[in-house]
Amino acid sequence: MLTNWTYKKRLSVIFRRTNFLREYRDFLGNLKETQPRYLQTNKETLYTEYVYSIPLGKVLTDSLEKAIVGAFDRVCKVKSAGGRLYVRIYKYKLPDHVAYEQLKEINVDTKYTVPIGLTLDDLILHNFDVTPHMTVAGATRQGKTVFLKQLITYLCENNPTEDIRLYLIDLKGGLEFGRYADLKQTVRVASNACETAKLLEEVQSEMNRNMSVFRKLGYTNIVDTPIKTRTFVIVDEAAQLSSEPFMQQETKEQLGYCQHALSEITRIGGALGYRLVFATQYPTSDTLPRQIKQNADAKLSFRLTTEVASRVALDEQGAEKLTVPGRAIYRTIDKVEIQVPYISDKESEERLAKFKEVDQRDGASYDKVSRTDDDDPLQTG
Ligand SMILES: Nc1ncnc2c1ncn2[C@@H]1O[C@H](COP(=O)(O)OP(=O)(O)OP(=O)(O)O)[C@@H](O)[C@H]1O
Ligand SMILES: [Mg+2]
Repeated sequence: MLTNWTYKKRLSVIFRRTNFLREYRDFLGNLKETQPRYLQTNKETLYTEYVYSIPLGKVLTDSLEKAIVGAFDRVCKVKSAGGRLYVRIYKYKLPDHVAYEQLKEINVDTKYTVPIGLTLDDLILHNFDVTPHMTVAGATRQGKTVFLKQLITYLCENNPTEDIRLYLIDLKGGLEFGRYADLKQTVRVASNACETAKLLEEVQSEMNRNMSVFRKLGYTNIVDTPIKTRTFVIVDEAAQLSSEPFMQQETKEQLGYCQHALSEITRIGGALGYRLVFATQYPTSDTLPRQIKQNADAKLSFRLTTEVASRVALDEQGAEKLTVPGRAIYRTIDKVEIQVPYISDKESEERLAKFKEVDQRDGASYDKVSRTDDDDPLQTG
């Protein structure tokens, strides 16, 4: 166990070695050499924070952050602001498991908001009205589908039923999302490329209809209107939508259409209340279309196998170093490492059982094809 003194000593060696403040110009333009000046130590329950004074305007460098994080066998956060450098060294490590149930203790009263995961001192929430679209990347068995299931469960459990509409695209043959087909919130589930193309045609024509209603009413963005409905298009295993050279022309065109339609949702759908969550195992320029990536201001990545893949998914390295399933980097303007809540299939199904819709005539599950025809996406609730 290192003492406070050794932490400070180690930090000063790092400052020197990384040349963090070796040279800077003062207000008079004189070139000076210096080191961050130690100010104080703040001992908190979860961490100890070392505060240094640095010249105003000096920003943290990647090399310094990396050197500090690498120097201690603890979670560290480094931040510079207002002429101060803060180095937080946490006493605990991120848990390897966070149960969905734990979230029930936390009161999230904003609509269309879901918990993304726990950091060491915070619960990170994602509000789909603030950031409408999200990409999710991660190598196999790292937690993408579990995350999507907890997202669906949380949205349904914590919003009025009529406010949430789900279009679910499950390109692993419908094995995962099939269980949500009977929910009142689910408009349609697609489980292959052909069904996805049909589903997206439906979404597009709905968007066009809504667009003309918006125009007529002078609306520019759904968040400023009385409309409470939000439509989530959730895609699991989107890599299946990229075409391969051996495919027939017709299939290639169909897949091209799907990618185009998904890009349209991120480009124009956001203002109309459409939210895209796009998950893929292999983030490359083919599987994660440029327009989707650019318009999705939230990026979540579980462990990826290479630094290159991490750069595609998050625009920076780091996802290749994540260790356990459910551990991810969530990036909006800032970037945080989190542990995503875990929900089992059984728990998800039990929690959502009350939203299941059953055809009264024969007990069969509700027909999603007929449902959409009378559905009014502009319902004001
Ligand atoms: N948030 C989590 N916390 C703890 N364990 C998790 C979490 N998410 C996933 N896991 C573990 O990892 C396994 C695989 O998760 P999941 O099915 O979500 O992977 P995936 O990324 O969708 O993989 P694939 O790309 O192969 O579909 C789960 O069965 C579970 O054991
Ligand atoms: Mg999966």
